[in-house]
Amino acid sequence: MKLFFASDHAGLTLRRALMEHAASLGHDIVDLGPDSTESVDYPDYGNKLAQALAEQPEAHGVAVCGTGIGISIALNRHRHVRAALVNDVTAATLTRQHNNANVIAFGDRVIGVETAKHALTAFLSTEFEGGRHQRRVEKLSPAS
Ligand code: RB5
Repeated sequence: MKLFFASDHAGLTLRRALMEHAASLGHDIVDLGPDSTESVDYPDYGNKLAQALAEQPEAHGVAVCGTGIGISIALNRHRHVRAALVNDVTAATLTRQHNNANVIAFGDRVIGVETAKHALTAFLSTEFEGGRHQRRVEKLSPAS
C-alpha cells in the first residue's frame, strides 16, 4: 500500500519509527517531513498530507504530532480525509472496519512505540466492512 507520512517536530521520532516499521511490512513509503526537530506548525503538515491524499486517493496516511490531536483536526477539515486518532489496536482495527479511515494519527507524547507499531499493523491489514457503515461514512462528507 502507498503510505504518506507526516508529522510536526513533536512527532518526528515516532513518525520515523513507524516509517521503518511500515517499510519492513513491504509498504510503499513516502515521507512528507519534516526533516528536523526545529519547531514547525502541525496544520502545515496535516494540510500537506491531505493534499497528497487528494492527488492519490487510493493511498493512506500516517500522521503524528505531540498529542495526535492538532494534526487530526487539521486533516479532518478536508472533506476527503477521515483521520482517526488511535491509542490501541482495537481502535485501529475498528476505524478501518467502521469508518473507512484513510489516515491513522498518533500522539508521540502519548503512545508507546511498540503499541503504535501494533496499531499501525492492524490498521494496514484491516478492510472496510461497508454495509451499514457505508451510509454513515457517506454522511460524513455530504454533497454540498
Ligand atoms: C507541539 O508542541 C504540540 O502542540 C503539537 O505537537 C500537538 O500536540 C498539537 O496538537
